[in-house]
Amino acid sequence: MGYWAKLFCLPVLVFALCRGVVGDPKFPCYFIFGDSLLDVGNNNGLKTSAKANYLPYGIDFPQGPTGRFSNGLNAADFIAKDLGFEDFIPPYVTVKRKDVIKGVNYASAGSGILDETGENLGERFSFNTQILYHQEVISHIETLQGNETYTQDHLKKCLYTVQIGSNDYINNYFGPKSHDKRINVTPAQFATTLINQFCKQLNWLYKLGARKFSISVIPQIGCAPAERKLYGTEMACVKEINDAVNVFNAKQLNLIGDLRARLEDAKFVLPILDVPKIGPLQSIGSLVIGDPCCKVSTKGVTRGQCLPINVTCGQRNRYLFFDGFHPTELANLFYSRQMMLVISHLI
Ligand SMILES: *[C@@H]1O[C@H](CO)[C@@H](O)[C@H](O)[C@H]1NC(C)=O
Ligand SMILES: *[C@@H]1O[C@H](CO)[C@@H](O)[C@H](O)[C@H]1NC(C)=O
Repeated sequence: MGYWAKLFCLPVLVFALCRGVVGDPKFPCYFIFGDSLLDVGNNNGLKTSAKANYLPYGIDFPQGPTGRFSNGLNAADFIAKDLGFEDFIPPYVTVKRKDVIKGVNYASAGSGILDETGENLGERFSFNTQILYHQEVISHIETLQGNETYTQDHLKKCLYTVQIGSNDYINNYFGPKSHDKRINVTPAQFATTLINQFCKQLNWLYKLGARKFSISVIPQIGCAPAERKLYGTEMACVKEINDAVNVFNAKQLNLIGDLRARLEDAKFVLPILDVPKIGPLQSIGSLVIGDPCCKVSTKGVTRGQCLPINVTCGQRNRYLFFDGFHPTELANLFYSRQMMLVISHLI
């Protein structure tokens, strides 16, 4: 029995709900591309500071720390559950060869649209590298299925989610050594560079058989506790960062419009991830939104990550951020619900 079934088919739940959970998934396969928001352990063996395979990460996850940047499940996990998959979509680095047919998670913390993004943190699978790995996985699926036409049909039915771009801002444009870049490159120029690359990457995925895309906007990373602390702002968010990100998001909306028109047999949805508006009080009702739940590192390459001590805020389901950048399981549930609203249009 898959993990979901164990978790959700408690005796108190009605049979119909259990059947919905363990029945046929709504897509035969789910491929995940992205950064730390969706990473499920791809960085564990890499030489990088962008890792989360230690407590308190995973404190509420059944297997403990796995590399997920959260206390528990991330949005990809919730979506897999909602879509009826028996288990989490496994990370590329440890997926069993026969399981790739159902999907693979390529997401890698620190990675971005641009290959060089995140190099300040160490090794990572850039979006290009992730697509290259996907190409290899497809060759393997063809071998397993023994019929290229069949495999192409299979790949067209899969769900593809992409959540990338935050690091192109945090660890590139607004990175520690990028001061000169910001003087010489405007946010609009930088966003155009990203969009041109992103366009090529989405076309590449299309050529590899992807037809059902959910492409997330870059969240309002200027509101992350780690960025607010770095900029020493008393304001709820760092406006300069959010403004630059919003230039990208507007261009991405146009890009998706173009792709919809040009690739008629493909479907694209764009979930909007609303960060609740943060007022001066730093909290909404009883939800703490301005502070991280764990004790975070305040400088160097680990800035914003949880310190490796097994101590957290008392009530983890009262916090929006688990560390200085990443959501708690509760917030991931909230984001995944927003994503599912639009993903349902791809079924
Ligand atoms: C390969 O798959 C296609 C599409 O499902 C099917 O129509 C065809 O009969 C298959 N070919 C063989 C040799 O099994
Ligand atoms: C970490 O802390 C949690 C919650 O306080 C506790 O349940 C767990 O046993 C601790 N794990 C280790 C390895 O100390």
